[in-house]
Amino acid sequence: MRRIRYERIGGPEALFQEEVPVPEPGAGELLVRTEAIGVTLPVVRKVREAARPIPLGGELAGEVVSVGEGDGEFATGDRVTGLCFGHGYAEYALLRTAMASHVPAYATARDAVALVRSGAVALGALEAARPERGESVLVTAAASGVGHLALQLARRRGASRVVAAVGDPAKADFVRSLGADDVVTYGRETWGEPVDVVLDAVGGALLTPAVKALAPGGRLVAYSSGGGTIEAYDLLSGGRSAIGFQVAIVARTRPQRYTAWIEELWRLFGEGALRPAVHAEFALADAARAHAAIETRANRGKVVLVP
Ligand SMILES: NC(=O)c1ccc[n+]([C@@H]2O[C@H](COP(=O)([O-])OP(=O)(O)OC[C@H]3O[C@@H](n4cnc5c(N)ncnc54)[C@H](OP(=O)(O)O)[C@@H]3O)[C@@H](O)[C@H]2O)c1
Repeated sequence: MRRIRYERIGGPEALFQEEVPVPEPGAGELLVRTEAIGVTLPVVRKVREAARPIPLGGELAGEVVSVGEGDGEFATGDRVTGLCFGHGYAEYALLRTAMASHVPAYATARDAVALVRSGAVALGALEAARPERGESVLVTAAASGVGHLALQLARRRGASRVVAAVGDPAKADFVRSLGADDVVTYGRETWGEPVDVVLDAVGGALLTPAVKALAPGGRLVAYSSGGGTIEAYDLLSGGRSAIGFQVAIVARTRPQRYTAWIEELWRLFGEGALRPAVHAEFALADAARAHAAIETRANRGKVVLVP
């Protein structure tokens, strides 16, 4: 089978395709013939920044072709999606059953990779802020795989005003089409009327304006892999708070809550109330182009590899 790997730290050009044997599922694992693989900023960053090369994992969807020992929930032929911790940029990949879920008949594999993982992050980050109906919500990286779902979910959960913050004003039409009332670009002096909740996917230097965008009593949820520092005084003045969120922690420690998020996402999708967007599909062999699409911050929605 074909898979994508890298041996040296670098940019998208470090990725190469190789032929390797199809892996065997161990206990608690599924072998999946992949139909769609999501490309995300954390994985793209690892190619540039990890201390040493690691497998290109992430979310994927496809058909179960073989089941490891000890699992009764999944069978050959099932359509599944989940998070792959090993080599995921491949024609066949191993999924841990604990991190896998069924794809309903009304959805494609592309829908699944655009919706499930990113949607769970968006929903979890939103819940972490404990928003009340009628509060306002600002989402940074609002056109990203997670952000474009967070916009829709904030609206759905009763936000009075949804603000999309983006790096490029050319993304305004896209985020407005998903329900954003206002659009701001990061470079602006202020981000308009203060908001009750900020969901921040960018981090770094953007944390300072993100905290300052909060109204008194406002909450910032930090869920980015971009690092950064928050000044305690900026929290103290105005009684603002900052909350960290990581979906993997919830999936591991509160699996019922994680499962409830996935059920809610599929229900909203089935009702047509949540629209995951695929920015572009790339062949597996073009994984470098897919990574470049993220690095150039061009994407509007999810970037997907199709083996
Ligand atoms: N905490 C968790 O559990 C969890 C799980 C998954 C993902 N995440 C985080 O969520 C964020 C968004 O992930 P995603 O998969 O939705 O992103 P994505 O679909 O890959 O989109 C990337 C977008 O992020 C924005 N961005 C901000 N800083 C960037 C940078 N330094 N390089 C490239 N793009 C940058 C860009 O839009 P703009 O230029 O418009 O900002 C870009 O278009 C990431 O920080 C990721 O680490 C967190």
